Amino acid sequence: MILRTERLIVRPWQRADLERMAAWPRFPDPLDAVWNWPHLLQAHGTADLFFLTRAHDPCRQEWTITTQAGQVIGHLGIRAIQQAERQAQLGIGLGYPFLQQGYGTEALRAFLHAFFGAMGFQTLRLEVAAYNSRARRVYHRLGFREVGAVWQRIGPTSDFGFLSAPAYAAVRPLFRQDGAAMLALSSEMTLTALDWQRRQP
Ligand SMILES: CC(C)(COP(=O)(O)OP(=O)(O)OC[C@H]1O[C@@H](n2cnc3c(N)ncnc32)[C@H](O)[C@@H]1OP(=O)(O)O)[C@@H](O)C(=O)NCCC(=O)NCCS
Repeated sequence: MILRTERLIVRPWQRADLERMAAWPRFPDPLDAVWNWPHLLQAHGTADLFFLTRAHDPCRQEWTITTQAGQVIGHLGIRAIQQAERQAQLGIGLGYPFLQQGYGTEALRAFLHAFFGAMGFQTLRLEVAAYNSRARRVYHRLGFREVGAVWQRIGPTSDFGFLSAPAYAAVRPLFRQDGAAMLALSSEMTLTALDWQRRQP
């Protein structure tokens, strides 16, 4: 499946895309460090394994988001695909230089049109951290509804020492320690085909 929008192309991902993603500048805020995964794959030499594992997982599908000129700016995927129930879970991420220019909303809107249309799915679920206001804004705008809250394991507490800095006081209550693990309060959100179709002009 290849989708075209006014500014973007969403196409099946290729192994070479991981190199381009690893060349993106890192997210400067440690709160966003989890989105530096392409750099970590490159540093640990595990990009081939990562690509092969995902490419051969029947419960996943992955796409790369590019500009019309072909510049790789992000990725979009579904996992935990349940064919019988026609449902799946969403993942999306842009490189740091491409945030907040409307690309995420544009790519996702086109994807949802295909997901609930030609692809024939009924339900798209996702989990988003409470502190991730930018992503939450996009999901609400596109019609996702909050259906629950969970404390999600996000990494070792040793990676989150920065949370004690005054700049992070407002988000600190959204984190909790569980032994050596850090948990983040997250929302479970859902969009159904019916809700999506009702919102279309
Ligand atoms: C989430 C993501 C895909 C959204 O794509 P994007 O292109 O950056 O988003 P858009 O530009 O379409 O919209 C962002 C909106 O959030 C708003 N926003 C940004 N920071 C915000 C904040 N701290 N609080 C509230 N709203 C915020 C912007 O103003 C904009 O809303 P507006 O268009 O009404 O002004 C992208 O930011 C991303 O990849 N982030 C890192 C990875 C990630 O968080 N993935 C999702 C995990 S669940």
